[in-house]
Amino acid sequence: MTPPPEAPKDCQICPRLVEFRRSNQQKHPDFFNGAVASFGSHSARLLIVGLAPGLKGANWSGRPFTGDAAGDLLYETLLEFGFATGHYQARPDDGLELIDTMITNAVRCVPPQNKPVGGEINACRPFLDQRIKQTKALKVIMALGKIAHDSVVRTQNKRLVEYPFKHGARHQLDNQLVLIDSYHCSRYNLNTRRLTKPMFEDVFKLIRKEL
Ligand code: URA
Repeated sequence: MTPPPEAPKDCQICPRLVEFRRSNQQKHPDFFNGAVASFGSHSARLLIVGLAPGLKGANWSGRPFTGDAAGDLLYETLLEFGFATGHYQARPDDGLELIDTMITNAVRCVPPQNKPVGGEINACRPFLDQRIKQTKALKVIMALGKIAHDSVVRTQNKRLVEYPFKHGARHQLDNQLVLIDSYHCSRYNLNTRRLTKPMFEDVFKLIRKEL
């Protein structure tokens, strides 16, 4: 049976993530605490794939990248490059709208320590695969980090050795679809300057050339 492109909020597939959700529901009953659905336009030509919801970001707000440091740079840059309109205020009701863009995650539920394990990434891939298939106008996928990159490549049944993750790399997946890599815009990568704002903007310049 074809899976849907979005996991149900109370998805039960990954025992460790279900257990983590239960404990977060007790600790933070006011949080969203569920599988976070993709956000944006169904006719998007750009799909941005993150890793997984942050505990106090998307798992709090219910909207990808909303409420944590990773979202600050991502949404600021989307607004700068015309892929979003409005004002990002780090909350799901800030009225921000994406233009020609959808944002999703390789893993839809918050993992302990921000680290999904291989089995969880694999279990969640059918949702990513359907998200890609059902976004019919898609031309560019931006992978934020290697886990997102690898999961996207696997949805296309391609060999990872032939499509290695590299910041700023452009991979032709098929006639219509290009994959562009960036280091993840996490607080850690920004603090250590593995990724800087100009480096992130340079990747968006590459994306704009494609669209
Ligand atoms: N928030 C998300 O939704 N995804 C990430 O990868 C990081 C933060």
